[in-house]
Amino acid sequence: MNHEPGAGAARRLWLRWLVEALAAVTDDPAWEARVLLEEALSGDALGLWRAPESPLPDGAAQKLQTILQRRLDNEPLAYCLGHWDFWDLRLRVNSHVLIPRPDTETLVRWALSQLKTTAGPILDLGTGSGAIALAIAKACPDREVWAVDHSREALAVAQENAQILGLPIQFCWSDWTAQLPPGLRFALVLANPPYLAEDDPHLPELCSEPRMALVAGKRGSEAYERILAGLPEHLLPGARLGLEHGAGQGEMLRALLAQHGWQEIFTQRDLAGRERISGGLWRYGHA
Ligand SMILES: C[S@@+](CC[C@H](N)C(=O)[O-])C[C@H]1O[C@@H](n2cnc3c(N)ncnc32)[C@H](O)[C@@H]1O
Repeated sequence: MNHEPGAGAARRLWLRWLVEALAAVTDDPAWEARVLLEEALSGDALGLWRAPESPLPDGAAQKLQTILQRRLDNEPLAYCLGHWDFWDLRLRVNSHVLIPRPDTETLVRWALSQLKTTAGPILDLGTGSGAIALAIAKACPDREVWAVDHSREALAVAQENAQILGLPIQFCWSDWTAQLPPGLRFALVLANPPYLAEDDPHLPELCSEPRMALVAGKRGSEAYERILAGLPEHLLPGARLGLEHGAGQGEMLRALLAQHGWQEIFTQRDLAGRERISGGLWRYGHA
């Protein structure tokens, strides 16, 4: 590997050095190098291209080295940066929350398409960083949005994001619906719960993210089963439900939804063509 550039070295030399260093931990070192440099330049995306021969501003080299060291220790890029982009939001993230995935934007897109046909509060179960609840709250400021998590650390991150973005969300620490205020009923319920089985082969590569955000139990379907069992007493007649799931879980989920009395059951695919969200319509009156 090249020697680390000196304090007054040109930005393009830092970039070249970073690409080489990052090749040890990522398949896309050129992209990550640009992201790290942009971070060191305090988000100035054009700072590199506008002035490639200029040195880094004061403090930037130190910041770069700190982030790079964490990345070389195999921490996910999002946690090293402390933020990640989702939908039209920049969210704070740390190791207590799942890094929001582009797949989850399928659920946000579907939820936004349901706003006209549902009237009443919206619930995001297992909010993590607050990604889904905040995307919805930003798009429809006139709707009451609730966000639930059973991790107090995750809720703290979501609350911080809501505060930074100035979006009013009702937060509730709850084991799915168990601690929601009695009598509170929703018109639209969204969830991206943990859905991996304990022996899922992908778990080792996800080991930096909270296990509680990933693993549902022995079968992978446990969180859906518990959510569907607890929901009826918190639903308005005509409520809609959208659940994100793994690509191979659509059939299982459609059967589970039917068993729990949901109608107009649907599945939508993500941009890669994989089954990604399923849900339905709740026709009944109050349970
Ligand atoms: C897959 S992550 C989704 C995070 C976020 N909604 C997103 O899409 O990026 C699942 C979330 O469910 C939460 N969770 C796990 N078990 C829970 C439970 N019993 N009750 C409420 N939330 C739970 C986890 O803490 C985690 O934040």
